[in-house]
Amino acid sequence: MIAQTLKWIGGTDGFLKLIDQRRLPTEFVKLECRDTEQLFVAIKTLAVRGAPAIGVSAGYGLVLAMQKLQPGDSLEHGLKVLAESVEYLASSRPTAVNLFWALERVRRSIETFAAANADATIPALQEAVLAEANAICKEDEDMCRRIGQNGQKFIKDGSGILTHCNAGALATAGQGTALSLMFEAHKNGKKFKVYADETRPLLQGARLTAWELKEAGIDVTLICDNMAGWLMKQGKVNAVITGADRIAANGDAANKIGTYSVSILAREHGVPFYIAAPSSTFDLSIKSGSEIPIEQRSADEVTSFGERRTAPEDVDIYNPAFDVTEAKDIAAIITERGVIEKPNTEKVSKHLSTL
Ligand code: MRU
Repeated sequence: MIAQTLKWIGGTDGFLKLIDQRRLPTEFVKLECRDTEQLFVAIKTLAVRGAPAIGVSAGYGLVLAMQKLQPGDSLEHGLKVLAESVEYLASSRPTAVNLFWALERVRRSIETFAAANADATIPALQEAVLAEANAICKEDEDMCRRIGQNGQKFIKDGSGILTHCNAGALATAGQGTALSLMFEAHKNGKKFKVYADETRPLLQGARLTAWELKEAGIDVTLICDNMAGWLMKQGKVNAVITGADRIAANGDAANKIGTYSVSILAREHGVPFYIAAPSSTFDLSIKSGSEIPIEQRSADEVTSFGERRTAPEDVDIYNPAFDVTEAKDIAAIITERGVIEKPNTEKVSKHLSTL
């Protein structure tokens, strides 16, 4: 069983139903977002998380925003509400570029629609926003499957694969990015073992990746983050595959904090490090990873483990949620279009200009 992270229920007056990822793996609970504010909180508090899933949800967040309009409102007012909602939702989290990509895509498509239909009514505008959000969702689903298929050569029979954080179905509208390779390999009858880093501080690896892979019947072993190097030393890891939140024009890739350390360990042990991500995760407006904004999260995530406080009162805390793996340490980036081996600016640009 592969989880369906999100689903839009109904028409333009509908709502977004999400798996509440804060409560996994002990509780499988659905959350209904019926206004933009609820969706903003769901993104900020990681009820929905993972770059592609954040982008798809944000598209539907704009459908929720348009529900505030009255049928007789002017087109100009409709576009103003849309633009304000784009800004609002864009302020929920800073690193995953899919969020801004999806919001801008809806904004641009609606502005084009309005420019071509000066007498369009508010219900027509609402329908157009829903159609674009649905298109983003559907495309994400297709991209995930193609990423999985395109990366098959990197999953060898009998291999050990390490992954960090969660780049599975829970992080997308489809079957994931990094985990999509594993779901496809499993479907193809390959035998392999996955090591899931627990991913402190919020344990996406333990709570989500281990849960998803187990549900799918894939051989998964959970490890603490600080065990990865030792596993590599023992020859248990033949490849590292992770997702990404934003990939710069030169191939540098931001992903969950700890990914950078894994890339250095992989380099040291001669283990190939792969990134699996859709083209919506590339940000060609920035030259390198040093320009990627890194989200800083609350100190509470570090000072406690679950409900239990594990740090002294008033200790200083540093809690960056992401880090950047350098292109030179990435053996290949797998997208829905194919594979970029040893990524650099020229190869990334060529890859993204081909359809
Ligand atoms: O803070 P999160 O849980 O949203 O971070 C998610 C990740 O870092 C994922 O690896 C990334 O978004 C890729 S998801 C296909």
